Amino acid sequence: MPGIIISVVNNKGGVGKTTISCNLGVALTRLDKRVLVIDLDSQCNATGILLSNNTMTRNTLYELTDPNKANPPPVENCIHLSKYKGLYCLPNVEETSGLEMDLISHYPASLMILRNKVRDWAKKHFHFTIIDNPPNMGVFVANSLYASDFVIVPNDAGSAYSFDGLRKALELISSIRASGNPDLKFLRLLINRVDLRTSISRVIIHDITERFSKSQIFNTLIPANTAFQEAEYARETVFRHHSTTRAAKAYRQLAKEFLSVCADFTDSSPKRNK
Ligand SMILES: Nc1ncnc2c1ncn2[C@@H]1O[C@H](COP(=O)(O)OP(=O)(O)OP(=O)(O)O)[C@@H](O)[C@H]1O
Ligand SMILES: [Mg+2]
Repeated sequence: MPGIIISVVNNKGGVGKTTISCNLGVALTRLDKRVLVIDLDSQCNATGILLSNNTMTRNTLYELTDPNKANPPPVENCIHLSKYKGLYCLPNVEETSGLEMDLISHYPASLMILRNKVRDWAKKHFHFTIIDNPPNMGVFVANSLYASDFVIVPNDAGSAYSFDGLRKALELISSIRASGNPDLKFLRLLINRVDLRTSISRVIIHDITERFSKSQIFNTLIPANTAFQEAEYARETVFRHHSTTRAAKAYRQLAKEFLSVCADFTDSSPKRNK
């Protein structure tokens, strides 16, 4: 069966896109899946967490997407083994942010680079490809959505602002479906940074469950937990740094639920799709 490509999208910054991409990626490898994480954000946070050092300067997303490069490398040259067994990374470098204007001037072909260069290869070689996106709705996020099968939208239970990002992400998914990737599906909302002792978490979870059906939200709630920040400080996932915490436990549970949701989607009829 071909692999599945998932975009993690919310244009609000700091809602957990990178944490989710890296930790879900590692959790899936522990269930014997081969996983690729693509770092589409020129902040390079996922690259920093997954690769052993952050000195990657060649064969990155930059070389793959630079519209002025005469001989771009083939995608397989840009895939690097991460420090986690079974997990690979297509890394990013800060210079990629400078490509945005060039890419816009090559519109619309520049929106399809990942779809044309990466999608088929990734689906052939990995069970799951997770794309970590930047906090905007620009050309890289469009590339991500044109190349993906599914979208996970994280929502931060500690901030009302992430609701705006959620609404915009859903609008963008609709427009991408209408304009070139009709198979794109909204997989689930993932509620992150949950602390049920706080009224803001309770209110936000209440609002989300009022607006979305149960089948649109992961049952697994990711707790607010300092293990995430401590792991990030060590440039690790919670599996290496805090493997016995509630944080790691939540991701083990999420990975199992994710596999069962993906199996439901791929087995069932199109009417399930939003
Ligand atoms: N459940 C959580 N509990 C506590 N801290 C968390 C949790 N999830 C993420 N964080 C922390 O919140 C910060 C933002 O997370 P992250 O970088 O994953 O967000 P992001 O959406 O990728 O941000 P950006 O939009 O800037 O790329 C990080 O310091 C991360 O360690
Ligand atoms: Mg990020």
